[in-house]
Amino acid sequence: MSAMTRTSMAALVVALAFLFLLEGAATAGTAVGEPVRRLRQARSLLRRLNKAPLASIEMRPSYHTGSLYNDSNNAAPHPITQTWHQNGKCPENTVPIRRNKEEDVLRASSVRKYGKKSPGSIPIANLISSVGDPDTPNVLRGHQHAVAHAQGADKYYGTRAGFNLWQPKIDRANDFSLTQLWITNGSYSGNDLNTIEVGWQVFPYLYNDSNTRLFIYWTRDAYKKTGCYNLLCSGFIQTSNQIAIGGSLSPVSIYGASQYYIDIFVWKDPKGGNWWLQVGGYDLGYWPSSIFSNLADGASSVQWGGEVFSPDAGQTSTPMGSGHFPEEGFGKASHIKNINVVDSSNSLRMPSGVDLQNKQRNCYNVQNGTNNDWGTYIYYGGPGKNPNCP
Ligand SMILES: *[C@@H]1O[C@H](CO)[C@@H](O)[C@H](O)[C@H]1NC(C)=O
Ligand SMILES: *[C@@H]1O[C@H](CO)[C@@H](O)[C@H](O)[C@H]1NC(C)=O
Ligand SMILES: *[C@@H]1O[C@H](CO)[C@@H](O)[C@H](O)[C@H]1NC(C)=O
Ligand SMILES: *[C@@H]1O[C@H](CO)[C@@H](O)[C@H](O)[C@H]1NC(C)=O
Repeated sequence: MSAMTRTSMAALVVALAFLFLLEGAATAGTAVGEPVRRLRQARSLLRRLNKAPLASIEMRPSYHTGSLYNDSNNAAPHPITQTWHQNGKCPENTVPIRRNKEEDVLRASSVRKYGKKSPGSIPIANLISSVGDPDTPNVLRGHQHAVAHAQGADKYYGTRAGFNLWQPKIDRANDFSLTQLWITNGSYSGNDLNTIEVGWQVFPYLYNDSNTRLFIYWTRDAYKKTGCYNLLCSGFIQTSNQIAIGGSLSPVSIYGASQYYIDIFVWKDPKGGNWWLQVGGYDLGYWPSSIFSNLADGASSVQWGGEVFSPDAGQTSTPMGSGHFPEEGFGKASHIKNINVVDSSNSLRMPSGVDLQNKQRNCYNVQNGTNNDWGTYIYYGGPGKNPNCP
């Protein structure tokens, strides 16, 4: 295993060195034209991304979720289907990886930025960064959130919730609409914000389609240099051959009719310290504890909700969630139910309280509640641009 790891590390170092040389040569003013340079960078990146899978290190969590799972609280997870399942399955000891195409990479503003958030964002940056942090307004520009968060009372070692699935229709080419969880510790001002993020998103700019897709993200330096979407950089180690990260999810909910969910569970394995991800009852893999600084122990904040990003000026009409406000309720407004956190005794329990963050509540809003079936839940979302949100 360690020999294997060393081989892959060596390959990565060589690939990085090659990329560096290429860029160096181009910026040093050789006759290589800009489009040619971008194409060569893109191909170099693709050689690194689309490689044959290597053996991974830890194949299952030492502390299985069965012991965390409170069966009386949660119905069995819904099976999830992904479009690629129609075409077959992965053989044993392999994992499904979404192929990256040349046009995907070239669509990014630069090859280096492919698969990165730019700018990166978490909803409550203004709460966790120090007052007067000059970076905060910039990083949040273009992002609109409607979220709930638990913070302060405890250390958090994970979270689990059921996420209503929708397919919001993107208004402008570079917008995205997503629903996710965030597990964080650190700050923008210290450039040491660590995050683990999982959810679904519609993001034509990244995937070149309008499908609802499962995504993950991580960073340990407030989105500056580390981290990426899905498997577009090293970090997350996938162990399951059932679910493709970045793959499409279906079916999605229909307004006033069938409702579909995806069950997402992230927890810190007390033995290895790695953060494991379970989706729809499948253990997908883990973020090694070693890729983090401030999440090496526990998290200081957990958040759940929706985000719409639009880089262009003026309010976008890209919807969040179902595109309907929380007041419309079940079957119409999108929601996240059975929201639980993992506490320091590794038990799943309801967060001791949640705060809401909804700055543009005439555009997108969020409401919280508790009941016997759903425990802690939120309804969130909205249409974006409308007469009250011009
Ligand atoms: C599991 O859920 C039941 C019913 O809601 C509750 O009584 C029990 O305390 C829960 N157990 C844990 C460990 O949370
Ligand atoms: C996909 O990419 C092609 C070529 O770049 C583009 O013409 C098309 O509009 C894109 N489709 C979506 C849904 O983004
Ligand atoms: C957050 O990170 C800091 C710095 O690494 C650490 O001292 C603190 O214990 C972390 N918080 C939690 C809840 O683990
Ligand atoms: C809903 O959120 C408010 C804060 O916005 C909090 O005070 C209240 O306890 C929450 N209610 C429930 C039922 O979780």
